[in-house]
Amino acid sequence: MAGPLALSAPQLIDLHPPAADMRRLVVAGMERQPRQLPAWLLYDDEGSRLFDAICQQPEYGLTRIETALLQERAAELAEALGPGALVEFGAGSARKVSPLLQALHPSAYVALDISAGHLHQACQALQQRHPTTPVLGICCDYSQLEQLPAHPWLERRRLGFYPGSSIGNFSPDEAVTLLRQFRKLLGPGSRLLIGIDQPKAIERLEAAYNDRAGWSEAFALNLLNRLNRDLDGDFRPETFRYRAWWEPEASRIAMALVSREAQTVTLAGRPWTFAAGEPLISEYSVKYTPGAFAQLAQRAGWRSLQRWSDASDDLSLHLLEPVDRGSAATLEPDSEQQHSDR
Ligand code: AVI
Repeated sequence: MAGPLALSAPQLIDLHPPAADMRRLVVAGMERQPRQLPAWLLYDDEGSRLFDAICQQPEYGLTRIETALLQERAAELAEALGPGALVEFGAGSARKVSPLLQALHPSAYVALDISAGHLHQACQALQQRHPTTPVLGICCDYSQLEQLPAHPWLERRRLGFYPGSSIGNFSPDEAVTLLRQFRKLLGPGSRLLIGIDQPKAIERLEAAYNDRAGWSEAFALNLLNRLNRDLDGDFRPETFRYRAWWEPEASRIAMALVSREAQTVTLAGRPWTFAAGEPLISEYSVKYTPGAFAQLAQRAGWRSLQRWSDASDDLSLHLLEPVDRGSAATLEPDSEQQHSDR
């Protein structure tokens, strides 16, 4: 008897934001005080490669611990998710999803990521490892996506997968907007499995973003190369130093490129003055306690169904389902505090 059909090549759809969007966002970020650029700009092809290296550093436990948790609990997670098409937001190298694909046998796997070259390679490698799973890559800024493109593989119940605590790279208010957006993209009857990094000892947190081998620094500095290339910048990376520090009042790590000297840089056709010691925030990484995250999710119309954690309770995977409009658990107003259980 013939076995299941083996698929040889993944399908790809390119919805990368136009260059004009990048220019607008960068100008808006440079006009902020302190200056702060959107985190997705870090992920050009080189940035994605550097981020993969960060994930392998001994100080950065997040990837290792979450990968092990996904492997150990794959059967339980698959059972709780149920049938459907698995949609991964910000798939990167798509290395974490394999145990879930093996246990879940989704009708399709759909990877969304901003870095086209990286996404292409990841989908090809994944298709080889899972030849019977239809694989679709969509190159996009998933935080700005209005809807998923029309595609027969997406005409199913949708299961969202958002590992790696990437939600922490958005401010809490932006995270609520993003989770609402996911609810809209995934539709009724969906589930969302999301990985959240939790607050822990400051030394461990700061070490994770200041690895000794210097990959975190290279990752942040690469942003300046990207701005030079894509927006006609003339940043001299050697005139900036990388810093990462814990901000307890916001429960987050701040990462910045700090100007070593007073200088004027040209970018997007405009001059920008930096004082000596002035930071350009490249990223924040917010850490949530399980209770704080459940509240955040509730504000976005998701109910927490189940949580899985590693033995040290460093991070957790939360399974969410959409709250029906009009049911007892109605949406909370946007102004609600998020860290009230800390
Ligand atoms: C992708 N994201 C969850 C990483 C983090 O831990 O916030 C990004 C990162 N930046 C530097 N190191 C890791």
